[in-house]
Amino acid sequence: MSAPISRDGFSSKFGVVAAAAGSAVGLGNIWRFPYVLGENGGAAFLLVYIFFVFAIGIPVLMSELLIGRKALQSPIGAFKTLAPNAHWHRTGLIGVICSLMILSFYVVVAGWTLHYTYLSISASFVNHTRAQIGGNFNTIAQHGVLSFSWMILFLGITALIVLRGIHSGIEKFSKILMPVLFFLIVLLAIRSLLLPGAWDGLAFLFNPDFSKLTQKVVVDALGQACFSLSIGMGVMITYGSYVSKKQNIASTSVAVAFADLLIALISSIAIFPAVFAFGIDPAQGPGLVFVTLPGIFSQMVGGYFFSIVFFVLLVIAALTSSISLLEVLVAYGKEELKLSRKTSTFLFFCVVALLGFFCAMYPFVFDFMDHVSANYLLPIGAFLIVLFIPIVLKRKETRMELEAHGKKFRFFELYYWIIAIAAPIAIVLIFVNQLGVLDGVF
Ligand code: TRP
Repeated sequence: MSAPISRDGFSSKFGVVAAAAGSAVGLGNIWRFPYVLGENGGAAFLLVYIFFVFAIGIPVLMSELLIGRKALQSPIGAFKTLAPNAHWHRTGLIGVICSLMILSFYVVVAGWTLHYTYLSISASFVNHTRAQIGGNFNTIAQHGVLSFSWMILFLGITALIVLRGIHSGIEKFSKILMPVLFFLIVLLAIRSLLLPGAWDGLAFLFNPDFSKLTQKVVVDALGQACFSLSIGMGVMITYGSYVSKKQNIASTSVAVAFADLLIALISSIAIFPAVFAFGIDPAQGPGLVFVTLPGIFSQMVGGYFFSIVFFVLLVIAALTSSISLLEVLVAYGKEELKLSRKTSTFLFFCVVALLGFFCAMYPFVFDFMDHVSANYLLPIGAFLIVLFIPIVLKRKETRMELEAHGKKFRFFELYYWIIAIAAPIAIVLIFVNQLGVLDGVF
């Protein structure tokens, strides 16, 4: 199959970074990161997480962008073009399945953020006790129909944006909204640090207790790193296909990873002081953000106003990410099933709505989709994507693509060593260890 001649694309460097960071920064940073960190005992998890972002995350992100830009296609088409007559396109298929699984619970949480926007507007946090605020979360989490209704609204908005195409839809939204979101989280973090007892939260976050470093911490940290950077399933291959040859893929990847890490850290600095100040269990799971943040708003001057702005922005952060997930499915429908953008969008709207229904109704389906996609499918996808480079593209072509903007890439050897040797071995070891085969060896 030949590459399409002209493609809709991003117009500027800032546009690419903002859109890729827009995909990366989302509920994964503000909702998932704190809750997974809380479940894994704090600072030790954070260290392992940071290590994975740099050692595996950035090289994988670069690899995805370069594969997409080289092939000018969405994942399945990209693998077919670059490796004809091979089985690599099945990797793209894993991506499509993964995207469906992630979207199905992601839109449920995004629906909760819409519900919380509504609660903010109706002043449900102002002058309420902590018990009442906690009750708000139980209401939505245990009320499948309510969750489902908000979810459909959110999914509908996502589909409308994806329908408008790359340039006028995704890029425009990301560019305006990301900076505002950043500003607001910083403000929340400052307020949270001023709560009495904030110090315990910081200690939990930054004072590592290595006895807490278990196999689960390592698996969860790798899964969260993949999830948060949107890697391992081809979102960034699709985005790479819209990046111009003039752009530096390495520096773009580093910028995206830093932005992503920074927002996860600042969110945690907003959340954990409040967790300890309010006496909440840090390991309480997916409800963590929805219980702590309203608690801070209720104690904040201007809390009414800020909570509305915050939840609106959280909806938007979720949107820029869900757009990227849906775009993978829609691009698949367009390029592989030969559907029009409209039909493809409608088809996947229906499929995700159905899967989302089960996530909203049954918490075990939600947990299954959340943990299996992030902790297993994404690392496996990342493993296959990095191997694709040494096996199919090889050194010379990889280098050419990374240096297509006309400058030498100084860390090429390090990059190549990581993706060809270190990262695949690390990922395999983590999984083999998970199966218990290496018990007693480490
Ligand atoms: N990274 C996003 C977040 O943190 C979620 C996301 C968007 C994603 N696209 C993805 C995760 C692709 C994995 C793969 O909220």
